Amino acid sequence: MKVFALDEFGKPGSVQDLPVPDPAEGEVRVKVAAAAINPMDVFVTKGFLKDRAPHEFPIVPGMDLSGTVDAVGPGVNGFKIGDSVFGVVGKTTLGRGSVGEYVIASAGSIANRPAGIGAIEAAAFPLAGVSAVEAVEAVDPKPGQTVLVVGAAGGVGSFAVQVLKANGAHVIAVAGPANAEYVKKLGADEVIDYTSQDVVAAVKAKHSAVDAIVDTVSTAEGLAPLTVLIREGGRVSSMRGAANAEELAKRNITGTNVRTSTTTESLNQLARLVEAGKVKAPHISTYPLERAGEAIDKSADGHARGKLVVTV
Ligand SMILES: NC(=O)c1ccc[n+]([C@@H]2O[C@H](COP(=O)([O-])OP(=O)(O)OC[C@H]3O[C@@H](n4cnc5c(N)ncnc54)[C@H](OP(=O)(O)O)[C@@H]3O)[C@@H](O)[C@H]2O)c1
Repeated sequence: MKVFALDEFGKPGSVQDLPVPDPAEGEVRVKVAAAAINPMDVFVTKGFLKDRAPHEFPIVPGMDLSGTVDAVGPGVNGFKIGDSVFGVVGKTTLGRGSVGEYVIASAGSIANRPAGIGAIEAAAFPLAGVSAVEAVEAVDPKPGQTVLVVGAAGGVGSFAVQVLKANGAHVIAVAGPANAEYVKKLGADEVIDYTSQDVVAAVKAKHSAVDAIVDTVSTAEGLAPLTVLIREGGRVSSMRGAANAEELAKRNITGTNVRTSTTTESLNQLARLVEAGKVKAPHISTYPLERAGEAIDKSADGHARGKLVVTV
């Protein structure tokens, strides 16, 4: 099978041939239609996780997948050959990812692809979409409440804006100037350009406080000053482990660092939002297999709009 793979961390990858793998207990083999790139793939290919998880070489990147079940391992009940699925690879060993013709996925980390979205679009949903649902759940917005979304134009942010709107929130999106129109189209009520405005001053000019912040990009140093905007009793969620829950609690603010759990159930929850018309595909830039390295480089620059998807 053809895969996009790297022989060493940090080296450019190339299309290589590997044997088609067989699923073990609890796993399925998926014939991949498309694989989305996430910042996690940048960390894996650069070797940032080399001391934290076992890796298999050559490194095939890719967590997100969509495709068709092609073989089913022992003990798998929920899926059969021919099912259209989406999800994440869901294995503890890194380097046998979805950027290739076939991938082995854990049956517990995939779900049936929702009606109404195509195979290419579906690859964009799993990690970013489930992350957004969890980041929004952590701030538990009530209809009419005001939520600031930092990193609104990225993968997680594109879904978070939509999920917040589906909850009836008033969304203030923080994004670069090139993405202002994009985040408005996703449903943002207001947009703050972080490159030309001070975010705290811009929010304060119109609002006495916000009820919550969903932050996908800030470090702890970047997030702390933004939390002055949150009213007493408000909430903040971070995708980067940047919320200091102990400090925030002193001001009666709930801080949550989201650790996304992409399971069949969380994917089904996302699929229900899609089928109810509440969440649609974000902006997608597609790359053929041989140009997967460009998608990873684009993710690494930190300013991708929506999702980067490798078509197989
Ligand atoms: N904890 C977990 O389990 C988990 C799960 C998934 C993802 N993550 C993490 O979550 C983060 C976001 O992931 P992602 O997939 O959404 O990344 P992404 O698609 O690369 O999005 C990053 C976005 O942030 C925007 N941005 C950059 N600097 C900004 C700033 N100062 N203010 C506002 N927006 C800014 C960029 O667009 P502009 O052009 O507008 O700047 C870009 O659209 C990553 O660090 C990822 O590793 C964590």
